[in-house]
Amino acid sequence: MTDTLSIRSGGASFDLPITDGTIKANDLKQVSTAQGPLATYDPGFMNTAACRSAITYIDGDAGILEYRGYPIDQLAASATHLEVAYLLLKGELPNADQLASWEHTVNTHRFVHENVGNFIRSYRHDAHPMAKMMAAVASMQTFYPSSRRLDDPEAREMNIVRLIAKIPTMAAWSYRHSIGRHYVYPNDELGYVDNFLAMLFQSQQRVYQADPRVSRAMEILFILHADHEQNCSTNAVRAVASAGNDVYTSAGAGIGALFGPLHGGANEAVLKMLREIGSVDRVPEFVEGVKNGKARLMGFGHRVYKNYDPRARIIKKACDDVFEVTGVNPLLEIAVELERIALEDEYFVKRRLYPNVDFYSGLIYEALKFPPEMFTVLFAVPRTAGWAAQWLEGVTDPEQKIMRPKQVYTGHRERDFVPVEAR
Ligand code: CMC
Repeated sequence: MTDTLSIRSGGASFDLPITDGTIKANDLKQVSTAQGPLATYDPGFMNTAACRSAITYIDGDAGILEYRGYPIDQLAASATHLEVAYLLLKGELPNADQLASWEHTVNTHRFVHENVGNFIRSYRHDAHPMAKMMAAVASMQTFYPSSRRLDDPEAREMNIVRLIAKIPTMAAWSYRHSIGRHYVYPNDELGYVDNFLAMLFQSQQRVYQADPRVSRAMEILFILHADHEQNCSTNAVRAVASAGNDVYTSAGAGIGALFGPLHGGANEAVLKMLREIGSVDRVPEFVEGVKNGKARLMGFGHRVYKNYDPRARIIKKACDDVFEVTGVNPLLEIAVELERIALEDEYFVKRRLYPNVDFYSGLIYEALKFPPEMFTVLFAVPRTAGWAAQWLEGVTDPEQKIMRPKQVYTGHRERDFVPVEAR
């Protein structure tokens, strides 16, 4: 028996079928109200599914995150970022041959056109690296016009490869430009993460070799950030893609969304907050301020997780490995105390606010000597894999349409124009 939602309006009764725990919003149109056909009002899409997706599963109450059915802790423990990118895109883990071929393809497409380097150079030195990378990624469409052929599977795949392969180069060059250093070109001999670290940190005098513990920690961070279903930036990617846009233009929009302090920019904001708190004994005073609405506890709370974010747990553990190499970040003590007090406090308990992915990641990035402006860039680079998978799923989904929400109009109607001299 099909479940239905019964609605009574204007003396009539309507039974709307419930499928997969949802009703089709379009079905509501048959319910007439005094203001016209019934619609939903849902600012922030608190309870609206905009697509069907088979990529990432989250159970926010239980704190579960899976990519294509594989638990995030198993992937973080054993996989590489490129392996996870393949899984997100193709739905299955690659076998050894498929993985070797995929790594070779991605790793040999890392070079970007020299004009992109010049383009990044043309920014002021203090331009935020996220802004430079957003523009550089969106510009890729002009170098690869085949990306506009959304109905060509080969073109789709090739341009996804290019995006995933080249974004570390653009990210590293955006950073090197900020610090006035020469660009480091990609090295095909190095894996995805090691090559990225080398492009960021290599100096003229010596070859940069990442400590394997640091390299593995970065790999884990990349895996944890690779996808997160319909978050704000993925929604931006899908919305832009729904108008028939290529993967670069769509990813550029995703980078813009991720730049915001309530989304990817939160890791940068966490460090700023910890520094402002300054010492463990000032934590209670800060928490009181949060409760009185004076500040937000950055790195806490999540639209979906009403439990400990499983990514935060893994990152907290990765902190230990990195700090073994770099020495402990002194802000860790403040973060741990903040977490302890918040998790016991009625305000946070009642609202089910727990540490999210951004609470501890910034501490690692800072210990690795990344400036705060780079933190969100380090989120965007791996998230490209998820954006590409979600873009592909969206543009190949026959149920998808151009995304165009309704509004509840609250303004004036039918006013007569008044000439300026009469106003
Ligand atoms: N500090 C203090 N109060 C909070 C916080 C916080 N970090 N987060 C939520 N609340 C309160 C909020 O004031 C509200 O209280 P009330 O019911 O009394 O008005 C209640 O909790 C519900 O919050 P909300 O803003 O309606 O929840 P949301 O789902 O719209 O927002 C969020 C989710 C992530 C934007 C929010 O929790 C937040 O601003 N957190 C801090 C920023 C942050 O860490 N962002 C990174 C998110 S994880 C990475 C990512 O996916 O981008």
